[in-house]
Formats: sequence, structure tokens, C-alpha cells
Amino acid sequence: MKFDQALIDSCRQQFPALERQQNGKPVVFFDGPAGTQVPRCVVSAMSEYLLNRNANHGGQFATSVESDKLLHEAHQAHADFIGATDGDEVAFGQNMTSLTFAFSRALGRTWSSGDEIIVTSLDHDANITPWVIAAGEAGAKVHFVGYHADDCTLDMDDLADKLNDKTRLVAVGCASNATGGLNPVKRVAEMAHQVGARVFLDAVHFGPHSLIDVSDWNCDFLACSDYKFFGPHLGLLWGRRELMESIQPYKVRPSDNRIPSRWMTGTQSHESIAGGMACIDYIADIGRSILGDKHADRRRALRSAFEAIVEYEQSLSKKLIDGLAQIDGIEIYGISDTSRLNERFPTFSIRHKNIPPVELARQLGQLGIFVWNGNYYALEFSTRMGFEPEGMVRIGLVHYNTAAEIDRLLAAIEQMVSVFAS
Ligand SMILES: Cc1ncc(COP(=O)(O)O)c(C=O)c1O
Repeated sequence: MKFDQALIDSCRQQFPALERQQNGKPVVFFDGPAGTQVPRCVVSAMSEYLLNRNANHGGQFATSVESDKLLHEAHQAHADFIGATDGDEVAFGQNMTSLTFAFSRALGRTWSSGDEIIVTSLDHDANITPWVIAAGEAGAKVHFVGYHADDCTLDMDDLADKLNDKTRLVAVGCASNATGGLNPVKRVAEMAHQVGARVFLDAVHFGPHSLIDVSDWNCDFLACSDYKFFGPHLGLLWGRRELMESIQPYKVRPSDNRIPSRWMTGTQSHESIAGGMACIDYIADIGRSILGDKHADRRRALRSAFEAIVEYEQSLSKKLIDGLAQIDGIEIYGISDTSRLNERFPTFSIRHKNIPPVELARQLGQLGIFVWNGNYYALEFSTRMGFEPEGMVRIGLVHYNTAAEIDRLLAAIEQMVSVFAS
């Protein structure tokens, strides 16, 4: 079964935000890459936790014991989400950026002058600056891998040129939050491991669109953020057990030195962790309904959900690309060949030759169509494209978006362009 109309409707009904109206029309949320909307089950899980189970962990009384049980289940749910088997390999934190800063500081202590690290110019700055700072403190050299000018895909030859036996780390995004392009992360990991380097993947933009698979990709570390895949504000950091046990984190003395606790400084937002587990089950339930099996195990259900989501989102991408191609003066940065939709997610950065991005986004916002403008922290990309300081306009679709919403967007842009030209 595919992502059919009944399934789209049943998903949409679970998101109260999608009922919001502006000027008598439903709001269109094309701002997913900056944070998706949240289904009711996530909010229920968070309030249920706060109302009935709220306690710090490790205590000898009922609410603390229940909290611990829930945390244990949430670690496992997130391991299922990313394709790991061991829930203890998953650490939680406030968001991807703060986890990556903490981790890069710890990992950077193992580097010294003569070492090299590799980042890319396609990445969100949260997967660049923490590594650049850590390398600077260690006296290590930083290389930036470029991208192809025509379709903004990662330049793998450039990566090959920059890898050598001094490389200690390759930090790459699974998908660009600016162009929507997918990076061949399995191949990146293979190449990095051949020279003995570790691989850190940023899966933040990947999470809502397709199945993360740390086992298949064979990476060493991965970071992600639940609020990008229909959950609350929460980040996760995964790393192989032997590495997470051997690298020394910055931590206070009394806190547990075992994984995952040693990587989770201070008291966590347990309600967000409860909500994070619920958002994974929201996606898994899509898969269970496609499989027609209420009891399908979580990983199998997630796989089935994402297969359907990928297919549906590609149909949305095609419609949007075809529609934008009809509008004079609009350019898409990234893959716009509709025979290559399996190489991209439905995240589109566009510019109009005359209308400033801020103006385009503002006017769409007034019509109840929410898109982003600026560089969305893909600063390196925006700078290299020569788009700073105004950046681009980002239209980001997820599975709760519809073809009808794309029609509204296209009509609105067309109208704006014609007014601007006149
Ligand atoms: C690709 C990518 N990486 C990292 C981040 C940073 O994530 P967080 O907000 O969880 O720190 C974002 C946020 O937009 C992102 O899109």
C-alpha cells in the first residue's frame, strides 16, 4: 500500500497545527526543515509524563523508577529509529548543535598538530564550526570539501583528494538542509575508513524523510534532532559503544560514567524524551497501517513508513519542480532533474532574479504560506553561492503537505512575479 489520500488525511488529522487558518484559509506549513509540526500523540506523551511520572532518574520510589523505565524504552526507540541495536549508544541532549559542540570538544582532545579533519561546504554550520574550533584548539588542519556547481552535489573526487593518512575525522551531512541533496554517506564512510579516519554524520535533515541506518552506513557517530521529525525539541547523539566508552567526555564527577549517561550532562528534559519516543511511534504507526499489521516490530514498521513517505514526497517534488519551471525568473539551487528525485529530498532553495528572498517569504507569509528565507545556517553554501547576506527562499515539504498546497504556492508566486514585472 502506498501513501494514499486516506493515509494522508489520517496523518494530517493528527496535527492540530494544520487546522490553523489565516484570512479564512488553512495555513500551509512549508517550514518543516526549520522544525516540523507535532502530532497530538507527542503532546499527550509529554503531558502524561509531566502530570504522572515527573521525577529525576535513579531514585528508589515509584515515579523515579517509572521515569527510568521510560528513559530506557526511549533510548531503545531511538536506536530503532537510527538502525542501531544498542539503546545505550544513544545519548540525548538539548539539540544537535549543543551535542556536537560537547562531542567535538571531547574528540578534539585526541587530536594534535599534524592531524587533519574534513568538513563540507554543503553542511549546516552545526556540522562545521564545532569541528573547526576543536581542530583549531588541537592545532589540526581543516579541509573543506566542495560541491559541483551545476547540481550542488558533494564533490566526491574532492573528498578523495583531501583524505590521507593524517585525516582523523570526516564530518558530513546525510542531506543538505539548503538544497535537499542526499550525500552518499555509505561511500563516504568506506573512503574515510580506508585511511583510518572516523565518520560523523549529521542526520538532522534526513530524519523526517527517510530511514536512517547507522549499521548499513557503517558510520562511527551520528547526530539528529527529534523536532525535525515531528517530535519535541530534543537532540540525539549516537556513537559505537567502544568509542563512546573510550572517548572522555566533559562531565561532572558524581554523574554515572557508563554510556549513555556519561554523554548526557545535567538533568535531561524527560518530557521531551517521552515525546521523542511518541514521535517515532507516530511514524512507525504509519508503517503498521501500510503493512496492515498493528504489531509489526518498530524497525520494520519504520522501514515501511519511510518507503511510502519517500515515494509520496518524490511525487510532491516532481510537481513543485515542474511548476517552478513554468515561472519566469525562478531558479532552483540543487537537483532539478525530475529523473533524479531519488538523489534529493523535497527541500528547495530558490531565488527570483528580481524579488529579494525576504520579500518573497514575507508576501507568502501574508498569504498563510510559511516558507523560510536567509541561509538557514548553511552559511558556507550561501556564501560560496554569493547569496549572502540575503540568502535564498526555502520551501520544505514533509509527508503532511499536499499537492493542493503546492498549487496554492505556485499560484501565489506566479501572481507575485507578474505584479513585480508590471
Ligand atoms: C542539517 C542540519 N544540521 C544541524 C542542525 C542544527 O540542529 P539543532 O537545531 O538540533 O541544533 C539543523 C537545524 O536546522 C539542520 O538543518
